Amino acid sequence: MKLVHVSDLHLLPEGGELWGIDPFARLDACLKDIARFHSDAGFVVISGDLTEKGEIQAYQRLKALLSEFPIETHVMLGNHDDRAHFQSVFPGVPKDGRGFVQSSTTRGGSRFLFLDTLKGPPSSAGLYCDDRKAWLKAELAAAGDLPTYLFMHHPPFGIAHGLMDLIMLEDGEDFLALLRGHPVRHIFFGHAHRPISGQIRGISFSAPPSLVHQLPLVSGSVPTIYSDEPAMYAVVHASTDQIVVHMDAFLNRRPAQMGPDDDRGPWF
Ligand SMILES: [Fe+2]
Repeated sequence: MKLVHVSDLHLLPEGGELWGIDPFARLDACLKDIARFHSDAGFVVISGDLTEKGEIQAYQRLKALLSEFPIETHVMLGNHDDRAHFQSVFPGVPKDGRGFVQSSTTRGGSRFLFLDTLKGPPSSAGLYCDDRKAWLKAELAAAGDLPTYLFMHHPPFGIAHGLMDLIMLEDGEDFLALLRGHPVRHIFFGHAHRPISGQIRGISFSAPPSLVHQLPLVSGSVPTIYSDEPAMYAVVHASTDQIVVHMDAFLNRRPAQMGPDDDRGPWF
């Protein structure tokens, strides 16, 4: 099973730049690259912060781009999103029966769950309330022994980053307790605007950078809050006994300083 993980688009309601970057142009380039090189992916997931400020027009621009994209795409909410505005533009995106944008799918004998961790302004943190927990409990029970993969905008644990750890999922410990005893193999998240991987209590996790501005690993290493570092998307291969997550800096992919016919020589 191959899938592609994209996160943090921060689309604007009309053309223009956010911190010196055109988010729409970034997403357009990203989708074209994925369509060109990963058309065999089972699906693409965009794990929240679809927009910068949740405007209806920004969701309409996203919808227009996705209408021309040939691969099934699951769109999720982050703290920069507006649930009502999103749903007005994407009425067909499945909900969990309680008004949250949560859904699941089965592919290749595995369960993939798409969670809604949006708390709402003025907080940038994430929230997983009792209604959402009830849905997750039922989904995990229904999945039984099937390998299960979670997608969520906010990480339910600290990531050793002072700024991000202030706005992680608020009830992280309670959330992780829900997973105990279930075959959850990996947690994919966004929000961090950094490429991250690791493991918590036996569950591996990964996050790609944003498609736009990034958050420097060390605050103060650049004189601004955000930084200009490579955008990436993640290509994920999940099989019975292995998960591989590649991060591809698709805008920084250029030929090496060598001729196309230069002989690389033996592979050692
Ligand atoms: Fe973001």
